[in-house]
Amino acid sequence: MAKQKPLFVFPIFVLLATAIMLCLCCSQLSCKRKSMEVKVKMNVQEQSFGQTPDEHKVKLYTLTNSNGLKARIMTYGATLVSLEVPDRNGKLDDITLGYDDLAGYIKENPYFGVIVGRYGNRIAKGRFSLDGTTYQLATNNEENHLHGGVKGFDKVVWNAQSFEQSDAVGVKLTYLSKDGEEGYPGNLECSATYTLTNNDELKVSYEAQTDKATPVNLTHHSYFNLAGQGKGDILGHELMINADRFTPVDKGLIPTGQLQTVKTTPMDFTKPYTIGARINQDYEQLKYGLGYDHNWVLNKKGQDLTLAARAYEPTSGRVLEIYTTEPAIQFYSGNFLDGSITGKQGRVYKKRYGFCLETQHFPDSPNKPQFPSTILRPGQKYTHLTVHKFYTR
Ligand code: GLA
Repeated sequence: MAKQKPLFVFPIFVLLATAIMLCLCCSQLSCKRKSMEVKVKMNVQEQSFGQTPDEHKVKLYTLTNSNGLKARIMTYGATLVSLEVPDRNGKLDDITLGYDDLAGYIKENPYFGVIVGRYGNRIAKGRFSLDGTTYQLATNNEENHLHGGVKGFDKVVWNAQSFEQSDAVGVKLTYLSKDGEEGYPGNLECSATYTLTNNDELKVSYEAQTDKATPVNLTHHSYFNLAGQGKGDILGHELMINADRFTPVDKGLIPTGQLQTVKTTPMDFTKPYTIGARINQDYEQLKYGLGYDHNWVLNKKGQDLTLAARAYEPTSGRVLEIYTTEPAIQFYSGNFLDGSITGKQGRVYKKRYGFCLETQHFPDSPNKPQFPSTILRPGQKYTHLTVHKFYTR
């Protein structure tokens, strides 16, 4: 009998050891989960962010949600100055390009984080006809009008009012664009509202009303790098764009007016591809854009809020999903960044260190009657909602 004892002891020992190991693993896992779920009290804080050379005071609003995500927005250009979101280990990092201070934005800003208006993207030769009148807008991109002109909505100081809701915090920015500003007809009263929800979404919603018919195409122009701003190029990000067609452009990046299928071209992001996979292919549209700088026609009907794009960065695990009520999205792969800009925390922004996903109407719509209309008339209300949803994989 005594000889049989070790036979019992051994399996009991193995069972005990396994149970201890399991307990240890579970407690470690739950510790990790707990550390990722640190609850903060959501809040919004207001502070001064200096003043413009013409002595307009600029304010900075810091929105913090209950998971610790932080969005900083300033009234100059209604600009998202930084956006901190967690990686798959719960570590926060700022994932948008920009500057540490107002002076940086005033000196030279390739539209980092701004609200673009009155018309985002290009209008050929800055000219269009509306109700029998021809309007000449400011030209600032060779012979074309780009992103609202010489002094677009990105270079003015907006008014702001912060707010708290049961599950979100935000700031509503308003601006009155006067009749004739940059050549546009009509006084345009507009607002852009940033809301940071406890579901880890940054919503940007827009409204505008006019007293004369005018084109309107507002968009948000953050440069994202989901690995962290200034931490390398974005070529390894996987991107999906929910679009079967895009609007091909000429050498000046003005749409030809056609809608072209993305099938069998490097413009096909209907399934995820890394941004870098095909960017240097010998494809005319990529040559014109020096990479991606095109407008994709989203697979949708009407103004429903639908998924437009998803970007995933494998080293951090961060995922950004973009939902919008707009019919299109401009995907720009940061081709004009060239290392001449030193941004936040002294980081140098080289070629393709950030990408933009600008939800919008098609470029040059005022001259393309076949495109969805961008004309806002008195008595009508322009509305646009875009949601940036963050999570990790
Ligand atoms: C948009 C344009 C680009 C470029 C960037 C900012 O994405 O389409 O051509 O102007 O903005 O540099």
